Amino acid sequence: MKATALAPSNIAFIKYWGKKDEKLRIPLNGSISVNLSNLTTTTTVEFDKELLADEISINGKKEENTVRRVIEHLNRVRNLAKINFRAKVMSINSFPASSGLASSASGFAALTLAATKAIGLKLDEKQLTILARLGSGSACRSIPDGFVEWFEGESSETSYAKTIFPADYFDIAVVSLIVSKESKILSTTEGQKKVIGNPFMKIRLSRMEEKINMIKKFIERKDLDHFGKLSEEEALEFHSMTLTSNPPVFYWLPQTVKIIHLTWQWRKEGLPVYFTIDAGPNVFLIIKKDYLEKLKTKLKESNVQKYIVNYPAGGVRLITKHLF
Ligand code: DP6
Repeated sequence: MKATALAPSNIAFIKYWGKKDEKLRIPLNGSISVNLSNLTTTTTVEFDKELLADEISINGKKEENTVRRVIEHLNRVRNLAKINFRAKVMSINSFPASSGLASSASGFAALTLAATKAIGLKLDEKQLTILARLGSGSACRSIPDGFVEWFEGESSETSYAKTIFPADYFDIAVVSLIVSKESKILSTTEGQKKVIGNPFMKIRLSRMEEKINMIKKFIERKDLDHFGKLSEEEALEFHSMTLTSNPPVFYWLPQTVKIIHLTWQWRKEGLPVYFTIDAGPNVFLIIKKDYLEKLKTKLKESNVQKYIVNYPAGGVRLITKHLF
């Protein structure tokens, strides 16, 4: 009753921010992302009838809130399988623990596949995305391969994720720049609750369907310029939602702003590079693979040293090497 899974993190170009059902994690809008090859989580789960309590270790730590969410997720799996054994769970990230890149998406995607496999459940991809979503919304997008759409849905069964283009369809790289090592000032779950009552959310949501259709069209056409500009516009709109929440949340640091300006300057100089930013200060640069070396030179010239280069990647998978 033991299995190990490896899951990529993902970055959303059209973002999930706000839930219409808090408990079921049904989002206010659909979202579009790509899996990231070099930001991964590996998780081993073993169910054992002799264990008296779940034993959870995440990156060598037992952080209270994370442990609670992991146990809640194990309970979902136990309920589905109708087996009540406790489990040992060990999870590690491919990136440094202190990079500020800690991701609930890769974490809950890996946990979902490892736990369901270890307990003997046979779920198809769609069912896995639905189960992963209950752990952390963005985790559902780390289950399928490549470029992924999470359909907003109206119920748990209709809010799921699916590949829209394979990983090798659009030859981009996503470079995560590590601006701050600190973990988030406010968790995404808490941050999202603050959209309630934000008058600007209405306008955002009224344009979401169109935005999703546009970004899909730009990926289909491999049109980096329009794709990149829409990703930037969306990232700025998402951060304006956090800024206009009550109380406001401001995730950026001075270095975040500096990189935004550098991106625009490099673009003026002829380098086709674009940014997106999640709920934190780190910036993700989007570029065609062919221009990666030029971007690295620019980063060096600007004294940006800490970054991780990612390519579009496959989704969650089982691996044979267990962590314990
Ligand atoms: C800004 O998936 O972390 O990264 O469902 O509460 O666990 P919970 O939230 P989470 O939110 C991710 C928010 C985001 C945008 C995105 O990935 O779409």
